[in-house]
Amino acid sequence: MPPTTRSTLALSSLLLLLLLLLLLLREGACIKWLALGRAVDGFEWTREACTGARTSGLLERKQARACRATPDIMQNLVQAARDTSTVCQQAFRHQRWNCSSIERAPDFTPELLTGTKEQAFVYAMSAAAAVWRLARGCALGNLAACSCATPPRREPPAPSALVQASTSLSPTAIGFGPASARSAFKWGGCGDDVRSASRIAKRFLQGETPSPGTGASAKFLHAVNMHNNRAGRRAVEQSLSLECKCHGVSGSCSVRTCWRGLGSSGPAAAGARLLRRYATAAEVRPTSSGRLPPLYHHNNLLYTTKSADYCLEDKRRGSLGTVGRQCNGSSAGYDGCEYLCCGRGHVTRAEEILERCECKYFSCCYVKCKTCRNVIITHECN
Ligand SMILES: *[C@@H]1O[C@H](CO)[C@@H](O)[C@H](O)[C@H]1NC(C)=O
Ligand SMILES: *[C@@H]1O[C@H](CO)[C@@H](O)[C@H](O)[C@H]1NC(C)=O
Repeated sequence: MPPTTRSTLALSSLLLLLLLLLLLLREGACIKWLALGRAVDGFEWTREACTGARTSGLLERKQARACRATPDIMQNLVQAARDTSTVCQQAFRHQRWNCSSIERAPDFTPELLTGTKEQAFVYAMSAAAAVWRLARGCALGNLAACSCATPPRREPPAPSALVQASTSLSPTAIGFGPASARSAFKWGGCGDDVRSASRIAKRFLQGETPSPGTGASAKFLHAVNMHNNRAGRRAVEQSLSLECKCHGVSGSCSVRTCWRGLGSSGPAAAGARLLRRYATAAEVRPTSSGRLPPLYHHNNLLYTTKSADYCLEDKRRGSLGTVGRQCNGSSAGYDGCEYLCCGRGHVTRAEEILERCECKYFSCCYVKCKTCRNVIITHECN
């Protein structure tokens, strides 16, 4: 082979490598799957559908593989994507950044790509929602990989603390053992298998590990994202509480069975927990190794980039600005006009609406109402 051909070959393979690296870098967002929330109900996750979602950039390679191997998890993830959007927008509805940009999935704006606090919340919340929905799917028997949680190894607390203190974990007393004589309840029912759900969610959410050629800052951001993911999964574990059911003749409750469950309030309980952690999120500086320093507690949310103040529109930083937002004229908090409008002032509008009121029923068959005028006052940021 003449040397010129060889060098052209080398050059073109170098270009190809660079192109591949660029493609890999663009795939940094592991939350593109949030776009699945727009899938129609009852959508069938065939192999072709999973591959299609991969081709259109909604799923990463590993996620598409999980989709093909265990399609039964997909409906839960679709629901989790919707939960993430609802809980986030509800939690931030009165703040300058109101989470409306999450609806743009999979084409996120910079504030959800550059490692801000807001990104930390969204990563954690999406993981929490995934665990919650998968755990519910397990308990409902919709998933092949899991069902009800194995009951805690601990015995239920005894009615008297003295008895409990002297109780050791004898092999016969583990799980459903004949502890009911001493205890106020026994383990039973169907506990939410948060552990299995967390494992399935982790595998799905982890995304691609950055390739060896990735720059240290991209690697570091990935580590931070994965940390926040884990904080979200843990927030669900921490939301487990004791739920019980009474048994015995005609509701006498002589026998109680209890399990550790997630309750009926949905992923919002974990969302409230994560919102408090958003408020106390910690900034971390990239290390040369691209790894996280070990001193951060698992529960903390971490961010690498300071957020914009979200006062004015700044497309480069993902800020939509608060011009035109409704504010509360009498609040001194985040939703108050002073804070929300960033000192730019606001316009107040009085709108008169006509309503039916003071309705009276007349003997048979008809109702007579008056018309009342109500004035509704709204404030809007300049
Ligand atoms: C959220 O903020 C954006 C930008 O300020 C605004 O256009 C949108 O109406 C807000 N959404 C809600 C629900 O307030
Ligand atoms: C405005 O803020 C006040 C004080 O925090 C609160 O009592 C009121 O319900 C708020 N009004 C609206 C429309 O949110």
